[in-house]
Amino acid sequence: MFQDLDQLHAAAMADLSAAHSAESLEAWRIAYLGASGKIKAALAGLKDVPKQDKPAVGARLNTLRQSVEAAFEERKAALASTPAPAAQRVDVTEPGIISAQAVGRRHVISRVREELVEVFARMGFSVAEGPELEDDAHNFIKLNIPPEHPARDPLDNFYVDDPARAASPRMMRSQTSTAQIRVMEAAVQRGGGRLRESIKVVAPGRVYRPDTVDATHSFMFHQIEGLYVDRAVTMADLKSTLLHFARAYFGPEAQVRLRPSFFPFTEPSAEFDMKISLRPDQPPRWIELGGCGMVDPAVFEACGVDPEEWSGFAFGFGIERIAMGKYAIPDIRLLFENDIRFLGQI
Ligand code: DAH
Repeated sequence: MFQDLDQLHAAAMADLSAAHSAESLEAWRIAYLGASGKIKAALAGLKDVPKQDKPAVGARLNTLRQSVEAAFEERKAALASTPAPAAQRVDVTEPGIISAQAVGRRHVISRVREELVEVFARMGFSVAEGPELEDDAHNFIKLNIPPEHPARDPLDNFYVDDPARAASPRMMRSQTSTAQIRVMEAAVQRGGGRLRESIKVVAPGRVYRPDTVDATHSFMFHQIEGLYVDRAVTMADLKSTLLHFARAYFGPEAQVRLRPSFFPFTEPSAEFDMKISLRPDQPPRWIELGGCGMVDPAVFEACGVDPEEWSGFAFGFGIERIAMGKYAIPDIRLLFENDIRFLGQI
């Protein structure tokens, strides 16, 4: 019996010194000191020991248990204070593995839109907004675009099917020029039926056209519209405003060119180009930006503005076009796919 206990003690000690981790130590504890461990089993065997030997065997068992328990505590303390192997050690003073933290930022279109708004704000333009879901009164009729005009082709617009509003169907606006109408109507309403104040606004926002998507077309894109209504506004004011904008946004070398054109809501109308250097590493070149002109009297009348008293100019251009030039983005789809690898570069 005593020999068995000596062997048990020796085995316990040998196994214990082989335990090098918290897990193996715990496995050892369960095997020897656990509720169904070997030492418990030995203690339970005491009942089979002949009566006269019981005190001696019992005493031996007790010292064995105490010795093993003490050794276990010692081993546990030693393991706790031993540093983990080098591979698992963390040097908290090392720079992080991801050295550049992934920081979110505003989308390039939002940034360009804000920059444009800011430049116009310095020229006295405030910001107007209009709904993206419009009626054809604002998108076409009041902008002097007659029913037979090709721009109203159902295949060229996103109309909303709504029999209840057949008289003035709703659609996703195809141009921010709708904001001109909304702003003038609101001003006339404030004036109690007539315009009593000048208007100077820009209206940036989304527009929708069912174009086939390719590198330069998208069914949704952004425009920024400008409207200035005052007494005796002339084409010279329009051109100087565009020139001022071009120089403020693109640099002092920028130039502006107007080419005669036609839009139903302006007369005369022009397309405007800017000779600009979109990027510092490129020589300036002419870029077609958008349309502009003097507000057509028919548009004023549709909004309740007296064309004898007021005159004005309007312009509208695409925001993607500027963003793509400025950041050398070759394909408009990149702007809407929201691939984080692309967005992180600009
Ligand atoms: N709305 C026109 C378009 O989407 C652009 C435009 C042309 C806006 C002339 C204007 C303007 O304000 O006067 O093509």
